[in-house]
Amino acid sequence: MSAVAQPREKREISIDTAPPVNVVQTVKDVREALALPRSSGSVIGLVPTMGALHPGHEALIGGARRECGIVVVSIFVNPLQFGPNEDYARYPRTLEKDVEICRRQGTDVVFNPSPDEMYPLPPLTFAEVTRVSEHLCGKFRPGHFRGVATVVLKLFNIVRPDRAYFGEKDMQQLAVIRRMVADLNIPVEIAAVPTVREPDGLAISSRNQHLNSAERKAAPVLYRALEEAVKRIRSGERDASKVREAAIAILESEPLVRIEYLEIVDPTEIQPLSTISGPVRIAAAVWIGGTRLIDNVAV
Ligand code: PAF
Repeated sequence: MSAVAQPREKREISIDTAPPVNVVQTVKDVREALALPRSSGSVIGLVPTMGALHPGHEALIGGARRECGIVVVSIFVNPLQFGPNEDYARYPRTLEKDVEICRRQGTDVVFNPSPDEMYPLPPLTFAEVTRVSEHLCGKFRPGHFRGVATVVLKLFNIVRPDRAYFGEKDMQQLAVIRRMVADLNIPVEIAAVPTVREPDGLAISSRNQHLNSAERKAAPVLYRALEEAVKRIRSGERDASKVREAAIAILESEPLVRIEYLEIVDPTEIQPLSTISGPVRIAAAVWIGGTRLIDNVAV
């Protein structure tokens, strides 16, 4: 009797083929890891992060992976950009999980220095981008952008990337870095990656994990307020104070929200505008309980 071939059970098998990531802690080791690819002409992409990686970071790493031969992710919670009463100590640190995310996203090198490696001496030299840092977060977090620009400049000097990836969610940070690169002739191309949002509109951020369930439910009001401003501008309103009022009214409808700022600014020097006559960014920062959230949209 001949055997009858039975139809095979159809099963989805996903094979994780991503190779391990090279995790290095020192400036010397990251430079050594990049020496060969650099000399053979690979385009080096850098994604600077403070860890606690989420889908927003995955989009940055994905962009770098598509456009560069070598992808470096730095994970460093930079003390220099936190004020004395800010959340440096409680900033989430999840290295093992982060390295796994980097591996799955196809990162080649993770640079995870200690504070002593990055600042072996108390720094006396800083990068400060005036004017662009003046308003919005710069006003409420004195010294923050000086800390950001200084560490990013150090990372650029350590890694010497051809391209570096930043999220549009941190729009003022992106403008500060672009201006620093232009002013100081730093040979790196800055790539901006759109904000990744939850289905209810909340911009994904490492700090969202601090929200309790009532706060999390309230948080999408921030995006709704920005959308209201967009709607007013698209329907012809040119008076920035009227647009602000409409957006602020939406924020004020949520009792858990405390407004830090909501401004309409020009997208390059981040100066508040009174009349809308060209492309603008609407940016806001709010506190929900003990968590500070920021977001922005372009019109
Ligand atoms: O956006 C961040 O995570 C940080 O400000 C950065 C750019 C990694 C600098 O510490």
